[in-house]
Amino acid sequence: MKIVQIGTGGFGKNHARILSQLGVLSAICDMNASRAKEFGEKYSVNHYSSLDTLMDSEKFDAAFVCTPTSTHFDLARKLLEQKKNVFVEKPMTYLSREGEDLFKLAKKNKAILTSGYIERFNPAVHLSKNT
Ligand SMILES: NC(=O)c1ccc[n+]([C@@H]2O[C@H](COP(=O)([O-])OP(=O)(O)OC[C@H]3O[C@@H](n4cnc5c(N)ncnc54)[C@H](O)[C@@H]3O)[C@@H](O)[C@H]2O)c1
Repeated sequence: MKIVQIGTGGFGKNHARILSQLGVLSAICDMNASRAKEFGEKYSVNHYSSLDTLMDSEKFDAAFVCTPTSTHFDLARKLLEQKKNVFVEKPMTYLSREGEDLFKLAKKNKAILTSGYIERFNPAVHLSKNT
């Protein structure tokens, strides 16, 4: 299993660390080239400052998209069009229509599309819902 990390900012860097620990991180992409270099070197994987260049150069099974929400739809669509499995940080998209389009594309291309559900497993959320 090879997974690429798109976006290594406040939250993406956590995903990159865990993917590396799991031994599945295969490349890093961040439009901020110095961040891409920093994390590529840190985890000894290739690094890119554009998704297009990464997709032209790397073979991989899945991508984690952890960029600003306004960019999720375009990045996830590009990946799903190439039949890649995609995790998109929450919120998946700004518009529910965009989310529905991604869902349809994933279904058509038999790819997995999922998002971050961290709060579902947050004990504080469970407690407040159940009291
Ligand atoms: N920070 C959190 O605690 C947190 C928690 C849960 C979810 N999220 C979600 O994660 C996503 C990212 O948040 P963040 O706080 O890490 O943002 P951030 O601004 O800290 O980092 C975003 C990174 O993406 C890069 N980037 C921007 N556009 C890009 C593109 N087109 N291609 C490649 N790289 C690009 C930026 O250079 C930056 O390094 C958001 O959707 C946010 O809602 C964040």
